[in-house]
Amino acid sequence: MWICPKCKQPLSQDTQSWHCEAGHIYDKAKEGYVNLVLANQKRSKTPGDSKEMVNARRNFLMSGAYQPLVNGLKELFSVYGLLDSGSHIFDAGCGEGYYLREIVSGQKDVHVAGCDVSKFAVLKAAKANKNWLYAVASTFDVPVNAACFDGILQIFSPSSEAEMHRVLKEDGIWIVVEPHSHHLNEFKQYIYDDVEEHPVPAHEMSGFTLLDEKRITFTILLTDSVQRDQLLMMTPYYWAANPSQRETINASLTSITADFRVMVWRKGE
Ligand SMILES: C[S@@+](CC[C@H](N)C(=O)[O-])C[C@H]1O[C@@H](n2cnc3c(N)ncnc32)[C@H](O)[C@@H]1O
Ligand SMILES: [Zn+2]
Repeated sequence: MWICPKCKQPLSQDTQSWHCEAGHIYDKAKEGYVNLVLANQKRSKTPGDSKEMVNARRNFLMSGAYQPLVNGLKELFSVYGLLDSGSHIFDAGCGEGYYLREIVSGQKDVHVAGCDVSKFAVLKAAKANKNWLYAVASTFDVPVNAACFDGILQIFSPSSEAEMHRVLKEDGIWIVVEPHSHHLNEFKQYIYDDVEEHPVPAHEMSGFTLLDEKRITFTILLTDSVQRDQLLMMTPYYWAANPSQRETINASLTSITADFRVMVWRKGE
């Protein structure tokens, strides 16, 4: 499945490293993941989410605050056969791997692979999901063979539809989660003078058919200030807010709207 980012030959895995026939070697970190981003492909020294953002997201998600989203996704996975024995699922921009851990846990013979450009995220994902394969890599250039996944989950991460099309098997399913119009609107009220709703554009994905679209909306009670901090820190609003706005949010925001748009695409027209 995984291929060498330099020469595109298959990668063999052993306990210490992944390597191709041409002799390119990628060391396996002790947590089990490999870094398949070549030095000349990096746009910054530490691409993707920072350690602080990844830690905040891990702690916030583990509190169960987004459970209704997990439940909705689990149902879709089941309806579209992605939890069937032998399924190969890809987590595109996996972060620290929370959602598939929740969705797939307890299912026999479902194989998960994931990538993220943040090495902090991949390290945490690999450490928590020891039997799954994670690599530091971009969703725009995934170092895997064509047509190797039955399903892709992509939550709040970027990717290219051409690349998702390439890595999916024929009739494969691509589940995309984006913010819906009211997602975390309360943060915006503290930060911006004019609060605008998230745009909800009509997507066209070339080579795909839209099978299903769902809106999952619920209110989260933010019971303590640590949780408020974690939620702010895992979003771009942390950077949009100035220190005094961050303090006010931390002192007074006691509930917030979660509003997700879930789309199910099938490869093929
Ligand atoms: C909002 S987080 C979502 C993480 C995870 N899907 C979740 O929902 O918990 C967005 C993630 O996309 C990653 N990311 C950004 N650009 C990427 C790219 N080109 N390829 C892979 N991951 C990327 C970031 O490092 C970050 O972990
Ligand atoms: Zn190679």
